Amino acid sequence: MARYQHRDRFYRKAEELGFPSRAAFKLEELLTRFKLVGQAARVVDLGCAPGGWLAILSRKVGTSGRVVGIDLVACPRMAANVRIVTGDVADPEVGLKAAEALGGAADLMTSDMAPKLSGIAERDQAGSQALINAALGLGRMLLRPGGAMIAKTFMGPEFADTRARFSRDFTRVEVVRTRASRPGSSELYFVARGFQGGR
Ligand SMILES: C[S@@+](CC[C@H](N)C(=O)[O-])C[C@H]1O[C@@H](n2cnc3c(N)ncnc32)[C@H](O)[C@@H]1O
Repeated sequence: MARYQHRDRFYRKAEELGFPSRAAFKLEELLTRFKLVGQAARVVDLGCAPGGWLAILSRKVGTSGRVVGIDLVACPRMAANVRIVTGDVADPEVGLKAAEALGGAADLMTSDMAPKLSGIAERDQAGSQALINAALGLGRMLLRPGGAMIAKTFMGPEFADTRARFSRDFTRVEVVRTRASRPGSSELYFVARGFQGGR
């Protein structure tokens, strides 16, 4: 019952506010807590469909900012300051298209990407790991020095290694949970600040 109420509260609120998904609340919570984005910022959102995070980011950066969303599946472009690149984040062409759409180095990269789950723990963990690595690779290509990244992850055997990778590229790395995550979910977020230019 508690589980149902929790889910229902966030679903209802998403509907009231016109957000495409409850995922938006997780990002809103992280951005409020860490104050990572402001007006006129450039942001890249990986795994953007159906657009919950884009809606939040578009509002935060305002009319003089720019948000570029990337996803394997088509995602509606919901505002004038949003651009969409459809493709795989691991494809270098997709990175180039995103750079062009951004028009300058990114202040923030967000990633809510998740692999298609097979139910086989090892395979799913490897898929999740590959997505984080692709996100870090794109971060090196698109972030400005001092920029930040928020990336979803799951607790698994590769966790310490992934954390070490973030620490190589960023001066401050934290791992946090959000209240809007489903109860019992093993979902975590890396919040990494102070990008060091991929040295
Ligand atoms: C949980 S959903 C994102 C929800 C979104 N943040 C929102 O607020 O609406 C995860 C997304 O990651 C995308 N994805 C998974 N692997 C990807 C890849 N290799 N490249 C680009 N997008 C990917 C999926 O297509 C899916 O739309």
